[in-house]
Amino acid sequence: MGPTALCPGTFDPVTNGHLDVIERASQHFDLLVVGVLENRSKDPLFSLDERLRMLRESVAGFGNVEVTSFAGLLADFANERGVSVIVKGLRAVSDFEYELQMAQMNHRLAGIDTFFISTNPVWSFLSSALIKEVARFGGDVSELVPPHVLARLTEKLGRS
Ligand code: PNS
Repeated sequence: MGPTALCPGTFDPVTNGHLDVIERASQHFDLLVVGVLENRSKDPLFSLDERLRMLRESVAGFGNVEVTSFAGLLADFANERGVSVIVKGLRAVSDFEYELQMAQMNHRLAGIDTFFISTNPVWSFLSSALIKEVARFGGDVSELVPPHVLARLTEKLGRS
């Protein structure tokens, strides 16, 4: 088996922007592990199981992507999985400062490198938080998430 990369996040819920990064990153590694943080502190809209299910359904057509969950430190999870690289998407310069800090901390903790991939500009304004806010007030997010995620958002928020 060649290099494995880890793409971590909360994915509450997965968006087309996430999927663009996952798909493009997966083309550069033998295996891309998508690590879904349990993240109780963020009080996610979707349970861990729901987030995992939506992601698995979204990446079903990608041959070398595995979706799994983790709790605690990303550096520890990367070590457990024997992963050599973390992959993160950058939407804008404003993402960079915090991402750089995390990359340096993860290198310090686990000697692991972070590779950044620029998001497709088509999705650069997207975030899960914004999707939830717009959907909550009945705005149209149908072109920003996969159809099955839209259906779950509608179910959860009680709007069409
Ligand atoms: O999708 P998000 O919420 O922006 O993802 C953030 C995530 C999950 C990548 C980050 O919060 C993380 O790695 N959390 C795990 C805890 C940890 O390792 N914290 C120290 C980071 S240097």
